[in-house]
Amino acid sequence: MGKKLHRRNFFQKFFLSGTGFLLTSAFFRKANASPKDHAPLLSQSGNDTLKTIHNLRTIHGNFSNKVIPEHQLQQVLQASIQAPNASALQSYSIIVVKDRNKMKELCGYQGSALLLYCVDYNRLKAGARSLGYDYHPDGIMRFITGSTSTILAVQTAVIAAKALGIDSLATNGIHRGDMQRIWNMLDLPENHCYPLIALVLGYADQEPAFHKGRLDGAGVIHYEKYHQLTTDEIEEMTRKYDDKDLHLGLNDNWDKDHKHYLDWLFTRWLGVGAGRMDKESQAFTLLKRSQFADL
Ligand SMILES: Cc1cc2nc3c(=O)[nH]c(=O)nc-3n(C[C@H](O)[C@H](O)[C@H](O)COP(=O)(O)O)c2cc1C
Repeated sequence: MGKKLHRRNFFQKFFLSGTGFLLTSAFFRKANASPKDHAPLLSQSGNDTLKTIHNLRTIHGNFSNKVIPEHQLQQVLQASIQAPNASALQSYSIIVVKDRNKMKELCGYQGSALLLYCVDYNRLKAGARSLGYDYHPDGIMRFITGSTSTILAVQTAVIAAKALGIDSLATNGIHRGDMQRIWNMLDLPENHCYPLIALVLGYADQEPAFHKGRLDGAGVIHYEKYHQLTTDEIEEMTRKYDDKDLHLGLNDNWDKDHKHYLDWLFTRWLGVGAGRMDKESQAFTLLKRSQFADL
């Protein structure tokens, strides 16, 4: 599971400082505005939902032993299933795990509860079978649509949890190591069920030192049509990642041996230059077994 589980070690101190710009529409559209510049659109909106979204931040592993009250966990689950879902199929399953050792083995993290979100059509298949229908939700489009519905349920849970004062970590730790363990540990069906992401819920035992920023402006938000970044805008993006006050990156120590944060990102984190993929990944083998890959 190794290095990636310790991302939190990269995070350094300093909170993003608040700014007090006027919220004019011209300001909103300013292409080169930094994430810090836009923060007031949410934080000073006077709207509780937007403020909750503004205050979202991930806890990277340091959850306390405090237990989420059962009725609040149920509120989070009920909020989660309110998310948009294609064809009203709710093509997912949410597996609630409270055993902390099991959580650790599943995803490398532990909190008060773990919600494992799987793209899953087995409930629907059972309904079809009971009525005499042969329903085969095969292929990549089923997986894409199912994943979209699943992920929307995840983020709805994240926001609901935060509104209740519960912290979270979305993690793909379930895809590290031998992925078959997830099927084995949770009795997942082999067909038409694929573990997509785990959401660990709990309470921070220590506040993160700062709020992470987000890249904003040109190349992220496009108006009316796709905008290819100009050379200047690409340089501006590189500069923004280098600006440690914006907290856009994973690591603040990149400048020890790299000119830009993006040099560190591509070479050290994303492994660019290490060669192309030369064999099928276990993720794809299991996707094929799930019947979610096209023939
Ligand atoms: C698919 C996915 C997998 C992730 N896996 C991890 C993980 O294993 N460990 C981790 O610390 N952060 C992980 N993250 C990142 C955090 O959940 C979080 O989004 C990110 O650190 C941004 O921080 P913030 O929420 O504090 O702004 C993952 C995010 C996504 C969407």
